[in-house]
Amino acid sequence: MTDQTLNILLIPGDGIGREVLPAAADVLRATGLPLAFSEAEAGWGCFQRHGTALPEETLAAARAADAVLFGAVASPSHPVPGYRSPIVALRRTLDLYANIRPTSSAEGRVLSAESLAQHSALSAQHFVDLVVVRENTEGLYAGRERVEDGGDTAITERVITRRASERIVRAALDLARARGVKTKDGGPHSTAANVAPSSLAPRPKVTIVHKANVLRETCGLFRAAALDVAREYPDVVVEEMLVDTCALQLVQRPERFDVIVTTNLFGDILSDVACAWGGGLGLAVSANIGPTHGLFEPVHGAAPDIAGKGVANPLAAIGCAAMLLEHLAGQRRPGAAELAGWAARIRAAAQHVLADGPRTPDLGGDARTEEITRAVVAAL
Ligand code: NAI
Ligand code: MG
Repeated sequence: MTDQTLNILLIPGDGIGREVLPAAADVLRATGLPLAFSEAEAGWGCFQRHGTALPEETLAAARAADAVLFGAVASPSHPVPGYRSPIVALRRTLDLYANIRPTSSAEGRVLSAESLAQHSALSAQHFVDLVVVRENTEGLYAGRERVEDGGDTAITERVITRRASERIVRAALDLARARGVKTKDGGPHSTAANVAPSSLAPRPKVTIVHKANVLRETCGLFRAAALDVAREYPDVVVEEMLVDTCALQLVQRPERFDVIVTTNLFGDILSDVACAWGGGLGLAVSANIGPTHGLFEPVHGAAPDIAGKGVANPLAAIGCAAMLLEHLAGQRRPGAAELAGWAARIRAAAQHVLADGPRTPDLGGDARTEEITRAVVAAL
């Protein structure tokens, strides 16, 4: 291994995480880049084996790695003593404060040519190219929960700080700016596959999403901090929107959005709504980024209904592998151009497979996970 070797930690987790993560690793190996892989445990199975869902060794390995690729974990919906969601804990411990979730209907339209699914057919009528930027370390997921009244009253504290609000809004504004610059070069907003209709709102644009009319203190602080930071970006169109309105607009007029920035729970929900425009959960990617670390994971969960059947769509995880390379390239290390080149090639290969097949059942096909992986590697 040379000095330039990059250490990638794989955390497959539970369910289909164990099926899609090896697929993404295979695609990364096929690049021939100097990557060294290691694997660590986390999740429900890990909790049952070791009594913890996030062992210290996993945390240490994540800290030491150049980047982490995470599959999915199965967190039970009933309280289990000692169990905490490891992905929420990883985000907070590694200070991965920005959860970046892009959705583009370019993917959906490739599929819609054959009207494979309702969401894809809808994608054909819309020109969606948006990113949900979700605050990842506080809000309603801060982990401050308790019961009172002998268990008959349950309380969750929603923690919002000015510091976390300012930095997530700054991340969103910087991202909008970067996307805006790309547009002028013929980037994603202006490619032939994604020609913006004239009704499209001016860009770069950031929509600040909150519920400050009801949650006056917490959303009030988020809103005030956001508007303060936005003043430093006169070149970015900034609007604010109530979260319920945003949910409706994401369904009715998704093309009006560029970058959406919001608090933790709102971002979790809105990004799932948005991903329908990009072909659904089988394709939805996300990056968790902080000042020192990056963790990349598909938006989907452990999918117990299809786990073990070998039919999970690996394209979301493969898309995350591309994001991981792009992130490492953005750190301007030696070989950055090559990393960025391979990120683009992986995306193009996945796009090629989406267009020509094979496809997994979630996209109307009957292919197995490994066939998709082989097809992407062949296209590379
Ligand atoms: P889910 O994302 O696991 O599944 C929702 C539906 O989408 C299922 O019908 C599933 O089969 C389908 N699906 C998801 N990913 C797919 C893929 N790659 N290919 C084909 N079909 C796919 O969400 P659900 O069912 O709400 O949660 C199941 C478990 O996953 C729960 O224990 C939950 O806590 C956990 N979860 C974990 C997440 C994470 O690790 N970040 C995120 C969301 C849920
Ligand atoms: Mg979610």
